[in-house]
Amino acid sequence: MMDHWAEANRYVARVELSALDRTRMPRHVAVVMDGNGRWAQRRGLPRTEGHAAGEEALMDVIWGASDAGLGWLTVYAFSTENWKRPVDEVRYLMGFNERLLLTRRDEIHARNIRMQFLGRRDWRVPRRILRRIDETLELTRNNTGMVLSMAFNYGGRAELVDAVKSIVEARVPASKINEKTIRAHLYDPSMPDPELVIRTSGELRTSNFLMWEAAYSELVFTDVLWPDFRRGDLFAGIAEFQQRKRRFGGLDGPPSSSASG
Ligand code: IPE
Ligand code: IPE
Ligand code: MG
Repeated sequence: MMDHWAEANRYVARVELSALDRTRMPRHVAVVMDGNGRWAQRRGLPRTEGHAAGEEALMDVIWGASDAGLGWLTVYAFSTENWKRPVDEVRYLMGFNERLLLTRRDEIHARNIRMQFLGRRDWRVPRRILRRIDETLELTRNNTGMVLSMAFNYGGRAELVDAVKSIVEARVPASKINEKTIRAHLYDPSMPDPELVIRTSGELRTSNFLMWEAAYSELVFTDVLWPDFRRGDLFAGIAEFQQRKRRFGGLDGPPSSSASG
């Protein structure tokens, strides 16, 4: 007998944009781009080749998200935990992200996309990258299309620690602290919570991504490795999201008038 818990492979056919219900699009989709190393290893290549191959996936997903009219796309590019990797890989990833910014920001800007960065600007991030980040923010700051957030040197716990520090520095009395206070001190207080978080490569965890913001997100996991991921896979994730019933702790149907905020 088949093991009750045995999971079918989470490979889902790609979906065309035209197949989505345009009245039920998420405003914000966040993606954990995972599986670059395994993609390379399967081909007998060094892990870094997997990161390089991830660029095409990222660009296709950015254009796809923008074509779909998403307001916000957030991608997890480098976590506060990724410093644990071998120095050569970390160095490669820093250079790779810098090159990506340099070579792609004009196209991104031409599509009216506003870029922003979520993460810590600590001493470990090379100054050169911070400079590229600042230039990119400046270049795209007045764009009115999709907001593309790069989570870079990002950790959900780090973001909450930084929020707490900033609340203490602002001398907010304890009695005045509520969820709105915490949100107001996150990296981007104006960013809506992602309705949908997609993770590639078959791992079933969030790995410290958007801890506060994704508290009620729909999670979609796929076995597709990041370098193989394309806009059709993003749309497949959105199609799955459109099948979900979101209850937020309540019951199906319209909220009762006694529900408190
Ligand atoms: C994701 O791919 C990229 C980053 C975390 C920077 P990985 O490098 O984690 O690839 P796997 O998970 O080892 O296959
Ligand atoms: C999460 O992937 C971070 C990014 C995609 C940038 P990891 O590969 O670092 O996560 P773990 O190690 O599987 O939790
Ligand atoms: Mg990984």
